Amino acid sequence: MAEEKMIRPVSNSMINNGNELNSCSINSISGSVIEEAFPMNGGDGQYSYGKNSNRQRKAADNVKAMLVEAILENLQIGNLCSTTKSNSFCIADFGCSVGPNTFIAVNNIIETVTQKFEIEGQSSLLPEFHVYFNDHVSNDFNILLSNLPQNQQYYAAGVPGSFHGKLFPKASLNFAYSAYSVLWLSKAPQTCNKGRIYYSHSPKEVSEAYSFQFANDFKSFLDARAQEVVPGGLMVLLISGRPDGTLPQQYSLGPLYDPVESCLLDMVDEGLLSVDKIDSFNMLTYSPSMEEVRMVLLENGCFEIARLEEQPPMSVPLNTTQELRAGMESIITKHFGCDIVEPLFDRYSKKIAAQSRPPLTAKDGLAVGLFILLKRRK
Ligand SMILES: C[S@@+](CC[C@H](N)C(=O)[O-])C[C@H]1O[C@@H](n2cnc3c(N)ncnc32)[C@H](O)[C@@H]1O
Repeated sequence: MAEEKMIRPVSNSMINNGNELNSCSINSISGSVIEEAFPMNGGDGQYSYGKNSNRQRKAADNVKAMLVEAILENLQIGNLCSTTKSNSFCIADFGCSVGPNTFIAVNNIIETVTQKFEIEGQSSLLPEFHVYFNDHVSNDFNILLSNLPQNQQYYAAGVPGSFHGKLFPKASLNFAYSAYSVLWLSKAPQTCNKGRIYYSHSPKEVSEAYSFQFANDFKSFLDARAQEVVPGGLMVLLISGRPDGTLPQQYSLGPLYDPVESCLLDMVDEGLLSVDKIDSFNMLTYSPSMEEVRMVLLENGCFEIARLEEQPPMSVPLNTTQELRAGMESIITKHFGCDIVEPLFDRYSKKIAAQSRPPLTAKDGLAVGLFILLKRRK
């Protein structure tokens, strides 16, 4: 019963957690999981995620062909309707944020599932689509739901709560999807990271603490999805990661965070921030190797690994100030306080303008994209 309360249909009662919740973190409660949440900026202003998520969109576009192929080759529509209570096909996007990327992904999934029914001559059995948009409670569900596409061919609902806990009834999802969200850790790794905000230039102990936290979080994520996804159901995960046989320091999101770290250290030098504040701050993302991903999957044992591979390579420019604010403002504000926001991002703008560097690639130590396709064992 507890899970059912978490699924709320689109209604006015749902549309009530607006922007004011997004400027600072609040605790997110999902089942027994209580964790800190640092959502992307809501609203539709110049620093909103909705206006500044083009790079995640390009990354998802980059794997559209893989997604389509994954569905066409692996979805078994034969016993689909017998596995759910009604003639419905349920899709959940875990860590959907505020759009528009989630709407594009959902559209791609529905189009391809429909195509699969057509290819198999089963168009008359096409199910109704239900789409559940999940993110932390403090995500701006108001803007997400009010921006639902006009001509949407599905029933939609927002599902607030951490994806590290169970969010749906048993065997209720046909397709689980998550883009660039499972790399977010539930809490800062327990480690002393002196003078740094990330593990990319840190001693081994620091990256080991990140790796440990990722393994725990990914285990919780899989344990929950194993209960929710129907036997034969599919799960596609897009995350940043690294090739096997490489160290965490070699490929990470560090190259994107380096200019922010440098600005924070400048502020320490200028006496505007205490060094303790930097030492106790760690960015909450981790880019695992394929081996680390595989180990947690094997330990869980409920999913067949249909594909676990690198995405086609991409080059990525440094974050614009707007993009960085859209993604990091809540975590920065929570740790350093609101007063730091303008001076920090102002310094960041000047620093990246002075650098004018070519886009980053894996040669610069940037993490690679991983495409993970899982099938729930029967
Ligand atoms: C970089 S955004 C990606 C958003 C979207 N999937 C896209 O591709 O544009 C990461 C999202 O994951 C969400 N997230 C991180 N940890 C989460 C958790 N434990 N439970 C639910 N959502 C989470 C964040 O709140 C954020 O909205």
